[in-house]
Amino acid sequence: MHTTRAFDLQDEIFLADDTLITSKTDLQGRITYGNQDFVAFSGFSEKEFLHKPHNLIRHPIMPRCAFKLLWDFLALKLEFFAFVCNLNKQGKTYWVFANITPSYNEKGEVISYYSVRRRPSKKGVETCLGIYQKLLEIEKEKGMEAGVQFVLNFLEQNKISWDELMINLQNEGKEGGYR
Ligand SMILES: Cc1cc2nc3c(=O)[nH]c(=O)nc-3n(C[C@H](O)[C@H](O)[C@H](O)COP(=O)(O)O)c2cc1C
Repeated sequence: MHTTRAFDLQDEIFLADDTLITSKTDLQGRITYGNQDFVAFSGFSEKEFLHKPHNLIRHPIMPRCAFKLLWDFLALKLEFFAFVCNLNKQGKTYWVFANITPSYNEKGEVISYYSVRRRPSKKGVETCLGIYQKLLEIEKEKGMEAGVQFVLNFLEQNKISWDELMINLQNEGKEGGYR
């Protein structure tokens, strides 16, 4: 089920330099933990978000292929970095720089996922907003796989990995954090 809350992109809240939003999920992406900053930014209480799918805070401006890439990386036991736009319970938008990792048991099997989110760079948000709008158009016209293919072609042409692209955008942002 997708978010149906109304939103106004201008109605935004911003992470501070010391904000650290964390959450954990099971293998299906159902939330099993969220810290106090997760409560503050998502606008949902623990009672409301525990055991709900993480698309609870999905923003309609995020292309589907971005999450396809996330789940493809996790299936390969790789960590994933991304600028993610979220929509909270009150309809407020907030951008984060997320790092999502698998957790293992003693047999080396993946048992859960963990996400750590920090204040994103201004450059990263502005660049990704443009990329995501383009991807949304592609998806509308040709479907999600065409969006994934567009990203893979872009990376190939620019001889850069997804991780490098995201981490560079976060670190290069000389003008500082997004506000
Ligand atoms: C640990 C973890 C954290 C996640 N955090 C978010 C998040 O903050 N916002 C979000 O929209 N999706 C997040 N997702 C992805 C969602 O599970 C889901 O794939 C996404 O919201 C797209 O939902 P949909 O397939 O219903 O469109 C997270 C997934 C994992 C495994």
